[in-house]
Amino acid sequence: MEKLKGRLGSARALVVLTGAGVSAESGVPTFRGEEGLWRNHDPQELATPEAFEADPRLVWEWYDWRRTIISRIQPNPAHYAIAELEKRSPEFTLITQNVDGLHQLAGSKKFIELHGSIWTVRCVECENSSENRDVPIKIPPRCPCGGLLRPGVVWFGEPLPELALFKAFEASSNADCVLVVGTSGVVQPAASLALRAGEAGAFVVEINPETTPLSRVADLRIPAKAGELLPTLL
Ligand code: OAD
Repeated sequence: MEKLKGRLGSARALVVLTGAGVSAESGVPTFRGEEGLWRNHDPQELATPEAFEADPRLVWEWYDWRRTIISRIQPNPAHYAIAELEKRSPEFTLITQNVDGLHQLAGSKKFIELHGSIWTVRCVECENSSENRDVPIKIPPRCPCGGLLRPGVVWFGEPLPELALFKAFEASSNADCVLVVGTSGVVQPAASLALRAGEAGAFVVEINPETTPLSRVADLRIPAKAGELLPTLL
């Protein structure tokens, strides 16, 4: 902890990379692990463009279920601590794989949503994106142009938003300290951001109760829950 506090205190540019584990203590299910969503659901049937084409109603029912869960919960101490780190850091970037919007709710301002947001919808015809917070959502939702609306998230097999990815790599390359919080580190290119940062000389810290493929490249590993560890850093 002392080592980490020292690094954070002297960091000029701090990057925090988060995954589903940061929202776990709020009650958002993670994807992998014993209680993970992918234990009981097949991502190929729910989170691919092909799945949506085959059965948009099924995919929307699943997203509506997740939107309902998320709409009822609050950010946890980890989200608030990350928002506070932003205020205290000269240069700060939060890169999140989460689509739940809890970082924003906790007050984060400088964030990159690598996998989109569950609170946006995009028309498959005219490609117009807009915010939609209806819970429940009318299934299947339609665009004013008549086209089918899809969740504004990145699915397996799809490229990440180009600008978001560019900015994420830029921030990772320029960081002198990176906190990797609550991600299994198995989904690319998100996981490679931590590697890039390490190669560029950043001090990489992993905060996760479990080891991951990123543990090997971390300069420091703290096996703890994000909501318990991060507030004590402040
Ligand atoms: P995962 O579900 O793969 O991993 C969650 C990680 O959080 C695991 O390594 C847990 O050990 C850790 N964890 C659990 N509780 C924690 C806590 N309280 N504090 C800290 N860590 C904790 O979630 P992601 O890594 O985010 O993509 O998954 C990456 C992507 O895979 C997601 O964005 C999603 C998914 O399929 C798409 O849907 C495209």
